Amino acid sequence: MILYLNGKFSEFDKIKISPYDRGFLFADGVYEAIRTYHKKLFRHEDHLQRLKRSLNAIRINFNETDTLEKIIYKLIEENKIKNEALIYLQITRGAAFPRTHNFPEEKTSPTVFISVQDLNIKKEEHLKGIKVILQEDVRWLRCDIKSISLLPAVLANQKAVEANAGEAIFVRNGLITEGSRTNFFAVKNNTVFTAPLSNLILDGITRKVVLELCKELEINYREEFIKADDLKTYNEFFITSTAKEITPVVQIDNWKVKENSAGKITGLLLQAFHHKVS
Ligand code: PDD
Repeated sequence: MILYLNGKFSEFDKIKISPYDRGFLFADGVYEAIRTYHKKLFRHEDHLQRLKRSLNAIRINFNETDTLEKIIYKLIEENKIKNEALIYLQITRGAAFPRTHNFPEEKTSPTVFISVQDLNIKKEEHLKGIKVILQEDVRWLRCDIKSISLLPAVLANQKAVEANAGEAIFVRNGLITEGSRTNFFAVKNNTVFTAPLSNLILDGITRKVVLELCKELEINYREEFIKADDLKTYNEFFITSTAKEITPVVQIDNWKVKENSAGKITGLLLQAFHHKVS
C-alpha cells in the first residue's frame, strides 16, 4: 500500500512519523473521509470547505488545500484501486519537542497524511437495514469540528459492535444529536427530521445531499431535534455518511421498528441518492 506523508509517496512499512507529532500526543489535528463514485471524488468542494473550517477552528495554518486533490488521484492510481476509493486525510499541527500543551513557540509544519483503500459498501445493509443503540453523548461541545480526537466515538462504536449493532446514536440532554460516525434522521407524517446544524453535530456532506434530495422530491423536512423519548412516535429512521450513504435503521436498542426493510420515504431517498451518483 502506498501512502502520502508530507510531500512523499511511500510504502506502508517505510513511513515514519515522530512520536512528538502533536496528533499522536494530543490528537491535535483534523481529518476528512472522502469517497469516489465512478472514480471521481464526490462533493470534493464540500469536503475541502469543511476541512478548511476545521483547520481554522483549531488554528492550524495550512494553505495548500488546493494541492490535495492531485495527491489523492495520484494515490488512487498508485494503489491500483479497482472500484471505488475511500480516502482518509489527516492534518495535525506537526511535531515539536518538548511536549507542551500550548502551541509550540517555534513554528511547526503541519503533518499531512493521506491514505486510500478500496471502498467496501455492505449492500445488504441498504436492503435490510441495521440495528443501532443509543448512547449518552459525552463528546465535547465542538462536534462541528472534524477533530481526530475520537475517543467517545470509539468507545460508543465498540459498545455497538458488542450489541450486534451497526452504529451508536448519541443522546445529549434527551435530544438525539447524531451517530458516532453518521448523521441521524427520523420520519413522521411523511416529514423528515434531523438535528439542526450547531456545535453539537458534524455538518455531514451526505446529510446535506439528503436535504437537497428532499427538496428535489418535494419531501418536507425539518432541521429540528428528535427527542429520545419521542422515538416511538416516528416510523422510519436512517443514518447517513460518506461510507454508509443512506442506511435504513430497523432496530433501536430492543425496539424493532421494521422487519428488515427500509421505510417508504427512506426507500425513495435511497433510490434518488443512487440515481444521483450512478
Ligand atoms: N464520519 N457525524 C460524524 C460524527 C461523523 O464522524 C461523520 C463522518 C458524519 C457524516 O459525515 P459525511 O456525510 O460528511 O461523511 C456525521 C466519517 C465518514 C468517519 O469518521 O470515517
